[in-house]
Amino acid sequence: MSEYIIVIDEGTTSTRAVLFTADGTAVDSCQRPLTQHYPAPGLVEHDAEEIWKLTLECAQTMVAKAGGADRIASIGITNQRETIVFWDKRTGKPLAPAIVWQDRRTADICAALKEQGEESVVQAKTGLLLDPYFSGSKIGWALENWPQLKDVGAHLAVGTVESYLVFRLTGGGHITDATNASRTALMAIGSGGWDDGLTDLFGVPRDILPEITDCAGDLGTTLPEHFGGPIRIAGMAGDQQAATIGQGCFAVGQTKATFGTGAFVLTQTGTTLRQSRNRLLSTILYQLGGERHYALEGSVFVAGSLVQWLRDDLGLIAHAADTETLARSVADNGGVYLVPALSGLGAPHWRPDARANISGLSFSATKAHVARAALEAMAHQTHDLKTAFAADGADWAELRIDGGMVANDWMAQDLADMLAIDVERPAFVETTALGAAMLAAVGCGIYKSLEDAAVMRGGVQRFIPNMEKHARDARLAGWSNALARVLQ
Ligand code: G3P
Repeated sequence: MSEYIIVIDEGTTSTRAVLFTADGTAVDSCQRPLTQHYPAPGLVEHDAEEIWKLTLECAQTMVAKAGGADRIASIGITNQRETIVFWDKRTGKPLAPAIVWQDRRTADICAALKEQGEESVVQAKTGLLLDPYFSGSKIGWALENWPQLKDVGAHLAVGTVESYLVFRLTGGGHITDATNASRTALMAIGSGGWDDGLTDLFGVPRDILPEITDCAGDLGTTLPEHFGGPIRIAGMAGDQQAATIGQGCFAVGQTKATFGTGAFVLTQTGTTLRQSRNRLLSTILYQLGGERHYALEGSVFVAGSLVQWLRDDLGLIAHAADTETLARSVADNGGVYLVPALSGLGAPHWRPDARANISGLSFSATKAHVARAALEAMAHQTHDLKTAFAADGADWAELRIDGGMVANDWMAQDLADMLAIDVERPAFVETTALGAAMLAAVGCGIYKSLEDAAVMRGGVQRFIPNMEKHARDARLAGWSNALARVLQ
């Protein structure tokens, strides 16, 4: 009997596979770190062959745990979005480094297009802004600068990470789901198809792009040699959309924030596409049976990667969890503020040229103050997003949080305090994987709808605001000053 679902969660810093039962219990998982390549300041690349090998290894480990391919009802895939892979259709082999979403190499291209007045057109069609974050300018740049992509002629294929993984898993299916497609800046998100005006704008030939599909259904079947038998791929979504599903945000207005490598806040806006007037993004939340649900999104580029940087590059802490102990060891931030613009600033500022800053240092500042400032920056950045969402008429009544960072109780409470709303944390914080499992369960017919699949979700813990207004205002004033220095 097929009783399990395997989720492949290919994130920015690691690749994982999680084995779920149909009731949403994660019974096992396999995780491998992914090598980050920083060839020059502002450039971030991955090796797509490494992504494939780690993915296959993790998925195979989970299939073995389950007792074989015939025990797996379906596979769900979720992934770091916008990162772009180039491969040869004949072999599936990558032809160039994957250009990661954090990569800023096309800042000048985007600035020039903005100068030409293209941003309003791009925003109206895609819900996005002109920023190097999105895939379109990256693909155009690669086609201009990497001759090996031209050399293979009609055999060139391009796609985001889920598209590449499906190609390798199925031995040739070239598809992308609507959520991932909506992050390329090449799709008209109201119509659900690639847009000729946009592909021309970024210099991307239409025939190298995948076919856009629903997020659940018959999306492909894996080659038997990978897992000792075929397995259906039945669910697919970008990781932030999957997390929103895993958090059960199905009613208009329900909002989640995921604190992974970056921090991404999505508010469900239903089947109506709403354009932001406050530098937020509109994006496809999921597409089922051809019907699209949309979200407003605030994308913050640096969250968990800041803690990783404090640990691996500055050597300030030995383990990520040390930040909580350090933050609790001091009464306040001692006037220290950290603006984590290590790869520019995303929403609502959109300043690819901005660089990080630690301010307010004196001899009385210790590493505890810096660690605290780093954690406080999460609430500060989220507060700025909340202000933009409110200005767009989509204020949050409460916030559902998840991702690796929110195991930190101090940070969860600080979010509630600084946002002055209840913050809810699920017992199972890996909601990205859970959301992909829910999609795969719907796609293979275990549940009829995502709402039905919500039984896969578990319990939650609430954090209630408990900070005096004057203390909150003082923190926000300090943050504003620090931010102003970075935005100069
Ligand atoms: O848009 C980028 C996002 O999908 C990356 O997610 O989980 O790797 O921080 P994550």
